[in-house]
Amino acid sequence: MVSDGQLFPVPEDWAGKAHIDAEGYEAAVARVESDPEGYWRDLAARLDWIKVPTKIKDVSYAKDDFRIRWYEDGVLNVSANCIDRHLPHRKDDVALIFEGDEPGVSDKITYGQLHDDVCRMANVLKDLGARKGDRITIYLPMVPVAAVAMLACARIGAIHSVVFGGFSPDSIAGRIQDCDSRLVITADQGCRGGKKVPLKANIDEALKQCPQVEKVLMVRWTGADVPVVEGRDVVWDDVRDAASNVCEPEPMNAEDPLFILYTSGSTGKPKGVLHTTGGYLAWASWTFESVFDYRPGEIFWCTADVGWVTGHSYVVYGPLANGGTSLIFEGVPNYPTPSRFWDVVDKHKVEIFYTAPTALRALMREGDEHVLKNDLSSLRLLGSVGEPINPEAWLWYHRVVGKDRLPIVDTWWQTETGGILVSPLPGATALKPGSATKPLPGVKLQLVDAEGGVLEGATEGNLVITDSWPGQMRTVYGDHQRFFETYFSTYPGKYFTGDGCRRDADGYYWITGRVDDVINVSGHRLGTAEIESALVAHEAVAEAAVVGYPHDIKGQGVYAYVTLKADAVATEELRKQLVLWVRHEIGPFAAPDVLQWAPGLPKTRSGKIMRRILRKIAENAVDALGDTSTLADPSVVDDLVRNRAGAK
Ligand code: WT7
Repeated sequence: MVSDGQLFPVPEDWAGKAHIDAEGYEAAVARVESDPEGYWRDLAARLDWIKVPTKIKDVSYAKDDFRIRWYEDGVLNVSANCIDRHLPHRKDDVALIFEGDEPGVSDKITYGQLHDDVCRMANVLKDLGARKGDRITIYLPMVPVAAVAMLACARIGAIHSVVFGGFSPDSIAGRIQDCDSRLVITADQGCRGGKKVPLKANIDEALKQCPQVEKVLMVRWTGADVPVVEGRDVVWDDVRDAASNVCEPEPMNAEDPLFILYTSGSTGKPKGVLHTTGGYLAWASWTFESVFDYRPGEIFWCTADVGWVTGHSYVVYGPLANGGTSLIFEGVPNYPTPSRFWDVVDKHKVEIFYTAPTALRALMREGDEHVLKNDLSSLRLLGSVGEPINPEAWLWYHRVVGKDRLPIVDTWWQTETGGILVSPLPGATALKPGSATKPLPGVKLQLVDAEGGVLEGATEGNLVITDSWPGQMRTVYGDHQRFFETYFSTYPGKYFTGDGCRRDADGYYWITGRVDDVINVSGHRLGTAEIESALVAHEAVAEAAVVGYPHDIKGQGVYAYVTLKADAVATEELRKQLVLWVRHEIGPFAAPDVLQWAPGLPKTRSGKIMRRILRKIAENAVDALGDTSTLADPSVVDDLVRNRAGAK
């Protein structure tokens, strides 16, 4: 165990050189308290506004007066901020470095080239009928054209909804329908770990359920022979050169939507998290510069897919808003070998590297030699995101990758928060392995008990945020009521994160994980209810309950309890079929790791499934089941314990 006391001070070569040092952090925390208006106004001044905002913040979390508005009379365009304004002095600087799935495939795209491509695609989108405010679904591999597509949407004021390339046709269809997209951007195929991903085939399948989709813009990536639907499908590579490379950026109000990103919650249907233009970009831009202590010219690599919020804020918008160089990697950490990440770091001289604990745990297991055969001397800062990083993985990252000298920023945030909220600043904050340390200036955290009572000092409770920050989500697309209910009704007047958290005697925060029915599997956020509804959609299944359990590599694994219909027989064959079924219904990453037959589920007399008990059984903490006497039929628990499946 690592004690709370183990501190890694700010390295000497960092003190004094970073954008923000310890004094700077304290000064910012004090200023946002004494002069919030001025602090937030200055933060927005880092952007290039067509009309500079005079109204800075207008927020109330109260039920009868609920509103979240930032910079509301400002006018700007995100693509102009990420590209055009850098052209006078950075036209030939590299905006995107591409590293393909196969080693040896790489490319560099300058700001000038990016401008050209984004304008051309923006014009093609307009030709296909897209207008300001339209929703466009993007289903692409991790390749530069994904960033081009996002920026092209932003340029014309269309709202993008990027769907991760691992989602199934059904999941894509649900997301297209929910926001009523009429245009989809995809590729023939993607490549991951030496395998092909049938993106266009998945879209064709999904669109059988989406009659409103009029046009599909398809990028030729692998060159595979895929069907092109006459009248509906347009091939980007065929229209690109003829399209004009001039496209004036659409002036957008700061509160106009920029994107929707679907994420799992505690109820069945994924929520369309909506982010707007001014506040989101200001926060993505400022956090990128501050947390990663970024200076233009440095090579930054965030390994997240653009299908997740991390890819939005720290592959595309944060780096480009700062005139930075962002590396886009198509592949996976262990292909062709477990040295791949480190090979890429050396090849492109990566200076700042940002990845997820699940990848680190998997690589750690492969042995230090895969890291040590590389030089890695270009690295100056490491980052972690997506789930709690266990101290063992932190210490390995620090010692083996960071050679005991590089700071690690453990960044806590969510799809909903738009950007990082809790993190060390590498020039200001002493580190503790496993702690995201302290809130960024302007982020007001509180720990509360189940009744909402505020907990002071060293304590543990539910993490809430008592005031807004510019990058906060503004609504659930199409369901503003659900937005309020989900985040602001549990603890009135406060934003509830869904996370549990401990605060130590030094005021450091330690995220303990979700306290709702959301699980975090390899950094992928999954609603247990979504997996349950996929399971019960199978003809053999009567009822299902899904919980998370501790998993060495994935952080959490998916443990499913399944009650079959009376006429179905529990065979090994059916077990495999059900696991495959979930893969197909949602996506490979949601497939149950363990599936246990449950003749009955533990329920209260009012019929509510007691997940607490199911979690304990899944964890193999069968001695700590607690009180089972309130169950309608306590004997079902004995059966589940007796037949507990071997959780790996
Ligand atoms: C949930 C949000 C943040 C972008 C990627 C995930 C967990 C995230 C950390 C961290 C501990 C973390 C939380 C959070 N989480 N970062 N550094 N330490 N937990 O975004 O899919 O919206 O998931 O991920 O539980 O609520 P997301």
